[in-house]
Amino acid sequence: MAAPIQAALAYEPAEAGSSFAHDVIAGLTARPKQLPPKYFYDEIGAQLFEDITASPEYYLTRCELQILGERAPEIARFFPADSALIEFGSGSSRKVRILLAAAPTIAAYVPVDISSQMLVQEAEALRRDYPRLAVLAVEADFTQPFSLPAAAAGMAHTGFFPGSTIGNFEPHEASSFLRHAGRMLGRGAALIIGVDLVKDAGILNAAYNDAAGLTAKFNLNLLGRINRELNGDFELENFGHRAFYNRERHRIEMHLVSKKRQKVSVAGRTVEFRTGETIHTENSYKYTLEYFAALARGSGWTPAATWTDAGANFSIHALTFEDR
Ligand code: AVI
Repeated sequence: MAAPIQAALAYEPAEAGSSFAHDVIAGLTARPKQLPPKYFYDEIGAQLFEDITASPEYYLTRCELQILGERAPEIARFFPADSALIEFGSGSSRKVRILLAAAPTIAAYVPVDISSQMLVQEAEALRRDYPRLAVLAVEADFTQPFSLPAAAAGMAHTGFFPGSTIGNFEPHEASSFLRHAGRMLGRGAALIIGVDLVKDAGILNAAYNDAAGLTAKFNLNLLGRINRELNGDFELENFGHRAFYNRERHRIEMHLVSKKRQKVSVAGRTVEFRTGETIHTENSYKYTLEYFAALARGSGWTPAATWTDAGANFSIHALTFEDR
């Protein structure tokens, strides 16, 4: 099975996943306990996230799709002819299809994702639907520096980072991601980026506590993944999902709460939990338009345009980069 998947990728990571055990042990022995959110996205987690995006409470995807649908021709003006469009965290590629339809002169599409199965499936579907487009899939953790495929190196580059995934970074990490993205995309490049906005806490809390329990499953799957891949023995029913808006820090926090005092074994190590002790699994920062523009400016980018949906729930920004 591995060979066809690898053959379909333009770039392979060195020892994909080798840092998972290290990061999990470091996070579970830290105080307070924490785990990096990038590990949500094994094949099960990536599918659960797709399901979340279709839930009635999770407005982010619907609002971003609304903006893309209405503004694609304006956004497409930021894509030079014969350029490469690089998408960070491509997932289902649903959003980029809207841009590709509005910008037929794009020569190459470079989806970058940590989840290889969806990456390969989507790349194959795009190759079928856009036979003249070079689809150069890269399996990589885009939170770390990675190389662009050689076939895209000589082209002008535009970045696409939808979904408010930037909100899952601490603000200083968001800034360093923007700086690295600027250096990688190059002088004169544009970046189209989706950013969730500060809003009523009730709407935010509902989005991360959907009635169908999809977000809870997504959060708990992290423990399931540790069991599957790191020989863990977490009993998932002994942990609960907790998500809430932290107004002071402008972020949704997600935690897994230990329902009782318990010991868990992971990769040969024993980890102890008190009743009510949590593992902090994710932050999802919410920005104002002004604060995000200031973050972008401070990271070497120039805000060039901003669009929001009708309810001003979500924003898309076009930034341009002049290396200074
Ligand atoms: C991918 N990311 C932007 C999502 C978010 O809203 O922070 C991940 C997510 N976590 C819980 N629900 C969705």
